[in-house]
Amino acid sequence: MKIITKEILADCQGTRVVKLTVYAPDIAAKARAGQFAMLMVKEEGERVPLTIVEADPKKGAITLILQEIGLTTKLLGQMGPQDSLYSIVGPLGHPTHIEKYGQLILVGGGVGIAEIYPVAMALKIAGNQVTAIIGARTKQLLILEQQLKETCDECIVMTDDGSYGRKGFVTEALKALLDTARYDLVYAVGPVPMMRAVSGVAKTAGVRALVSLNAIMVDGTGMCGCCRVTVGKETKFSCVDGPEFDAALVDWQELSNRNSIYTTHEKHICRLKEQGAGQ
Ligand code: FES
Repeated sequence: MKIITKEILADCQGTRVVKLTVYAPDIAAKARAGQFAMLMVKEEGERVPLTIVEADPKKGAITLILQEIGLTTKLLGQMGPQDSLYSIVGPLGHPTHIEKYGQLILVGGGVGIAEIYPVAMALKIAGNQVTAIIGARTKQLLILEQQLKETCDECIVMTDDGSYGRKGFVTEALKALLDTARYDLVYAVGPVPMMRAVSGVAKTAGVRALVSLNAIMVDGTGMCGCCRVTVGKETKFSCVDGPEFDAALVDWQELSNRNSIYTTHEKHICRLKEQGAGQ
């Protein structure tokens, strides 16, 4: 479980996005698009779920991309080649259902771009026409643009501040596409407000949308109930029933509320750690 390589993909406006390749041969041998791994940095730390962006069974390596948001992702971002993770488990979650749908739009926001990349590759191999819409706050925070341009038939770039690509939100580009042509499926990963907005645009256009949810997880195996989401009035666990669900059926308000439960506590812990490090 050693880290093999580390690369900083973005570092801007207090946001850092880090790419790690990790030696995990058992996971690399079985991982499929849409699945994730749960890892621990230290024995007394929390587990965090991260999408398996790439898997190389020959080298026994998996690629993980993370944004430093909370305490654990910040600790992960400080690790480097030859450092060892305390544990890593996977692949977890259902793989993305891949078939020849026809014309699809994949929408990635922020670090969610890393999650649509393996799905884009699998859908292209299955013979689909794939358009990607990727968005970030600003140019320096945009990741995997080149990889998605090489993989997809078209890749539209949006930035909130207009510093690169088109100015505006991914939903604006999505609406423009759905207004002009017929698409068979929309697939979105990103912050909850973005996925919720994508769901609304797709619903209005009468196109089915799938989303990969980023619910808070504890064990990742369906035992703790922490990642529960309401989908079509049924309780589902993101880790074992998902992470992908039909966007039109997700209770977005509940997900949003649950995801912010620990925000104040985590900020407090991060502040204490920073103060401790400065002494
Ligand atoms: S993370 Fe515990 S049930 Fe899903």
